[in-house]
Amino acid sequence: MDDARALYLDLMKRTLTNWVYGHHETAPVPFSSQTKKSIVEFFSKHGLQVVRPQPMDPRRRALGDDWPPTAHTMIGFKRLDNVQFCVESALAEGVPGDLMETGVWRGGTTIFMRAILKAHGVTDRTVWVADSFEGLPKPDVEKYPQDAGSKLYEHKALAVPLDEVRSNFERYGLLDEQVRFLKGWFKDTLPTAPIERLAVLRLDGDMYESTMDALSSLYPKLSPGGYLLVDDYRIESCRQAIQDYRKAHDIHDEMVEVDWTGVYWRRSE
Ligand SMILES: C[S@@+](CC[C@H](N)C(=O)[O-])C[C@H]1O[C@@H](n2cnc3c(N)ncnc32)[C@H](O)[C@@H]1O
Repeated sequence: MDDARALYLDLMKRTLTNWVYGHHETAPVPFSSQTKKSIVEFFSKHGLQVVRPQPMDPRRRALGDDWPPTAHTMIGFKRLDNVQFCVESALAEGVPGDLMETGVWRGGTTIFMRAILKAHGVTDRTVWVADSFEGLPKPDVEKYPQDAGSKLYEHKALAVPLDEVRSNFERYGLLDEQVRFLKGWFKDTLPTAPIERLAVLRLDGDMYESTMDALSSLYPKLSPGGYLLVDDYRIESCRQAIQDYRKAHDIHDEMVEVDWTGVYWRRSE
């Protein structure tokens, strides 16, 4: 059983990153000249798309250092391994609470969280999936000057509709009543989210505001012994939010490096 579980979760990681088919990835041909633009428009009128081969760079994909065209997560193997380690330790030690990610994009990491619960036969914990499902917010510079200059809200590639994320869960056979979606800006959804306790909380909202809003509403719900995972510690604004929150709340739990951008700590009290 242990072998089957490990093999299933390993296959999930290879599938969620599109590791298995990444060498066949393609990308739309960009409009760089009028001629190309008219060719692309001609095909699109006939329901066709002009794409070129763009096989994944295996090194970058493994590191979680690209925005994959089709994969369901962009976080790479080490951060997925870290999610597995934290969830499995919380389960083994009976740390109470649900699992959650704030900032889910196509849903891959939360799909993986649901898969871990499934693999361990856990039926009394929920996976919370929080996102605008419209991309990142425009910086609110008055409240959060740390986000000044952020242009992430302009990236359409980061706006994945809720229906698409739901259907991604479905394709893995993992959409059920143990998965709950919170749609909207974190500042609106998280303060009143009907969550009692969390065993694992993963932050992947990139900005100061997104990180701070998630911490302010959710860290108090993280059980002692629970895990706080940060995807974007390499991004200055996110790092600043983490440091400010830890300082303001006198948190000294050891921060552990996961890879070139991920960190986590275990809540001691
Ligand atoms: C880098 S992507 C997350 C990647 C994802 N965790 C994965 O496994 O690939 C960042 C996500 O955060 C969401 N987001 C960022 N700030 C937000 C906010 N303040 N409110 C709601 N959603 C937010 C965006 O919509 C986007 O889907």
